[in-house]
Amino acid sequence: MTAATAQACANIALVKYWGKRDTALNLPAQGSLSLTLDALRTTTTVQFDERLRADSLFLDGKSATTSRLSPWLDIVRERAGIATFASVDSKNDFPTSSGLASSASAYAALAVAATSAAGLSLTRTELSELARRGSGSAARSLFGGFAIWHRGERADGKDSIAEELVEGRNWPVRMVIAVVGGGKKKSVSSRDAMGHCAATSPLYQAWLASVPPDLRAARDAIANRDLEALGAVTQGSAMAMHAAALASRPPVRYWQPATLRCLDAVENLATAGIRAYPTMDAGPHVKVLTTEADSDAVVAALTEIDQVGQVIVSKAGPGAQNISESP
Ligand code: PMV
Repeated sequence: MTAATAQACANIALVKYWGKRDTALNLPAQGSLSLTLDALRTTTTVQFDERLRADSLFLDGKSATTSRLSPWLDIVRERAGIATFASVDSKNDFPTSSGLASSASAYAALAVAATSAAGLSLTRTELSELARRGSGSAARSLFGGFAIWHRGERADGKDSIAEELVEGRNWPVRMVIAVVGGGKKKSVSSRDAMGHCAATSPLYQAWLASVPPDLRAARDAIANRDLEALGAVTQGSAMAMHAAALASRPPVRYWQPATLRCLDAVENLATAGIRAYPTMDAGPHVKVLTTEADSDAVVAALTEIDQVGQVIVSKAGPGAQNISESP
């Protein structure tokens, strides 16, 4: 069977996904909304090969465990009616050791490459559903610019798919990412943390209730190209998610001292009239939604902070694409 290569960008949620309504199918308890990022790309090649006795995975050139990948590849094999094992070679063009989320771009690229290599021809919506099975947030990376991932109502998850709201070039915002602490402290995975939060946090239900109005407000803000309104929702959604996580018993705390310094710096920038709105995921890094014109000021302020390593600036990126060379 032929090999296929695909490329996908990571995405950062502006309205967060935090909690599942079905863990086996990775169905979210609420919808979420994100910006796909051009600067964080994964390139993945998949080849199904009759000679293989097991799946194999190379991540940035190093052999890695297939314990999470193989059950996902089984879904592809079942759909394609094949039993062949696959070799997967995946590379990130951003530092994976930094602890920046890479599962979204990973499973989006995998969905495109693996289905193509298996001879399947799926719609982007079907690919989004398949990527979701590997990592929830990956459903959004099939799409470029601003994407929404619907909660869906169906038990089989067929309607829990993402869709593109606005292409990146139609609203050229920027995301500045401050990599905090060099990724030294091992974070609790988002999968484990959201399960623990749902089971133990007295704030979890309040968090869930905050999402639908945030989604409406974010969609309106995007439609009106209103960065101040989108920024307020972005910051609020991240803080509400982290408040629920912090209230878990025992707490899930991703924040490090430098995280707070970054948040302080962003607040000072905002006071000085710079448009800068912070968000955070399941790690200590701070990501700042801003404009092209203001991004230099945001980079300068974050670079000064001790324990901030790399500072990455990204514009909106494209959806996942098949980049295989034609035979
Ligand atoms: O898709 P996962 O399982 O890596 O979860 C992502 C969770 C957050 O990054 C914290 C929020 C989000 O919506 O991306």
